[in-house]
Amino acid sequence: MFEKIKAEIDGIMERDPSAKSRFQVYMFSPGFKAMRAYRKAHRLYERGRFFMAARVSAKARRRTGIEIHPGAKIGEGLFIDHGTGVVIGETTEIGDNCTIYQGVTLGGTGKDKGKRHPTLGDNVLVGAGAKVLGPLKIGNNARIASGAVVLDAVPDNATVVGVPGRVVKINGRKVEKKPAADLDHVHVADPVSMEFCLLRLEIQKIKESMADGG
Ligand SMILES: CC(C)(COP(=O)(O)OP(=O)(O)OC[C@H]1O[C@@H](n2cnc3c(N)ncnc32)[C@H](O)[C@@H]1OP(=O)(O)O)[C@@H](O)C(=O)NCCC(=O)NCCS
Repeated sequence: MFEKIKAEIDGIMERDPSAKSRFQVYMFSPGFKAMRAYRKAHRLYERGRFFMAARVSAKARRRTGIEIHPGAKIGEGLFIDHGTGVVIGETTEIGDNCTIYQGVTLGGTGKDKGKRHPTLGDNVLVGAGAKVLGPLKIGNNARIASGAVVLDAVPDNATVVGVPGRVVKINGRKVEKKPAADLDHVHVADPVSMEFCLLRLEIQKIKESMADGG
């Protein structure tokens, strides 16, 4: 138990440049507090003690601003930085060594039943304010940019940005952007040649009517 707590604190020390000591993390890190409460709530939840689990979870939410449903399945080494406004839904699954910043929602779209929340692989980073919605899979080492809204599965080693989220990098290489049809400045019709075409048609018509004697 003590070893697990120490490993969790060490994980935070590695990823939080502002953490000055283990004691400081133990005393004041909201992510650390929320995770300790979650582990307790999850154990109660697994034993079917749903009311007690909800009680522990609600108390942690009041103290940290982080809401983790006791039913969520979370691996080792999750680092929730700052934490305020983080919501992790009941059927969420999170692999090992993930990082989540403030304002992140791992939630449902409201359209699914049963498994409604995302599954994150290992070493996933979810930036501040990002929303990952639905029972979709986020691959290992994926990076979800701050402010992104992710509605589709994300492959391993991909970076996703924007609303709706789109993959901009994969395995460290940028993904080419497709020009939008109405922004294609290369394949636009030439207005001068279009005018010539119209003029030739008019001349053709005049020639035909003269040939008819009209
Ligand atoms: C996405 C992120 C993880 C960087 O990942 P990366 O794989 O190193 O990606 P890059 O920095 O190479 O950026 C790739 C592209 O995405 C763009 N991008 C990066 N972050 C973005 C964001 N939040 N929103 C929109 N576009 C973003 C970059 O401008 C770049 O665009 P370009 O190809 O047109 O130049 C990082 O930008 C991020 O959002 N981190 C979250 C940090 C955070 O939440 N901090 C809170 C601290 S309190």
